[in-house]
Amino acid sequence: MGNDELLELTRRLRRRVEQSPRCCWRVGLVPSGERKTNSASRLAEIAERVARCQLCPLGRTRGKTVPGAGSPEARVMFVGEGPGFMEDRRGEPFVGPAGELLDRILAAIGLSRQAVFIANMVKCRPMKDPSRPEARGNDRPPSPEELSACRPYIAEQIRVLAPRVIVALGAVAARALLVSEAPIGRLRGTWAEYRDGSLAVKVLPTYHPAALLRNPELKKDVWKDMKALRAELEQG
Ligand code: URA
Repeated sequence: MGNDELLELTRRLRRRVEQSPRCCWRVGLVPSGERKTNSASRLAEIAERVARCQLCPLGRTRGKTVPGAGSPEARVMFVGEGPGFMEDRRGEPFVGPAGELLDRILAAIGLSRQAVFIANMVKCRPMKDPSRPEARGNDRPPSPEELSACRPYIAEQIRVLAPRVIVALGAVAARALLVSEAPIGRLRGTWAEYRDGSLAVKVLPTYHPAALLRNPELKKDVWKDMKALRAELEQG
């Protein structure tokens, strides 16, 4: 075996060991109770910074910031695009009709909001017409500038949680996390990888629950994806 092959093998092995939930390099031999408190306080600290954030114009028009919510020990992260009308009022992710469907999807594979971490690519509500925050149908996807201004927050949340799997909900999250231009119909159902320095996390892109509400035909594909997620988690 040549030097290059040996180096590549060492890198791959190190990555696998670092990603293992039992890895002492990753968790620094910290007992699990302390680890939980540590992640919880780091996530709370990110949320505090988000609450003061003015890195893009959404900071001036938002109601509440929506940093994300769930378990500080989550093995699975669900990432959507950005808060809508209901989320902006409550400060919690996925609490509108799409959120109710997400709850049912989680339950179907034995998960719950309390067991996972749910976040968005952007933490403030993008609106078509910011002068009419109460108007229905006023939500829009985040712009590339908003996505890049907010990216450090989701990146930090992923580093803190170092989850086993990220489920990217919809095209915006899937493309942003995977740095891809491909359509969601092509990305969904295929395992990919999110990389940040030495951290590598498996990503499963699937359709956004709001897309399922508009087009129930897509449900069968999401069900396939959720079965793949469950099988992956069962591997330990
Ligand atoms: N859609 C999203 O992408 N995120 C939410 O939090 C709610 C709806």
